[in-house]
Amino acid sequence: MASFQDSVKNFFSNSDNVESMRELFLHELRDIYYAENKLVMALGRMAEAATTDELKMAFQTHLQETRNQSSRLEQVFRSVGEDAEEVTCEAMDGLVEEGEEMVDETAPNSLTRDAGLIISAQKVEHYEIAAYGSLRTLARMLGYQEAARLLEQSLEEEKKTDALLTDLAESFVNQRAMAE
Ligand SMILES: [Fe+2]
Repeated sequence: MASFQDSVKNFFSNSDNVESMRELFLHELRDIYYAENKLVMALGRMAEAATTDELKMAFQTHLQETRNQSSRLEQVFRSVGEDAEEVTCEAMDGLVEEGEEMVDETAPNSLTRDAGLIISAQKVEHYEIAAYGSLRTLARMLGYQEAARLLEQSLEEEKKTDALLTDLAESFVNQRAMAE
């Protein structure tokens, strides 16, 4: 039986294998590029729909961050000698659609609306955290150090946004406890 190390060494000594791993990397990169661009459009609407200034601000800050992440992905494409291209990300389409349903199903100016929007936004963040984490690992495997560094930066931003949303949700809980 071959050891894992030997299997990996054999895998990367075959140029067809390296090429298929690179194709997987590019596919995932195009997927998250589509997802970020889709989010640029969605976050503005989410900020508008939010009830509290805190959540509006969180979405607006993340909108700016998302624009930067989209341009950072263009840098990643460049760093591996490819043009920036999108491939439809059905998952992000679905998550954004659910976010819109959340707005339709909750009353304007309600805290329920904000609680719902936080849930939708955290689902998005978790998708992105999974995508950036995997992409960074693939980039490292392929020896794309610059790409790995850029992807890591976006990964850290997504994690921070996720934590901020958790803090916001918890502050609602705490405020409620104080009001009782
Ligand atoms: Fe993002």
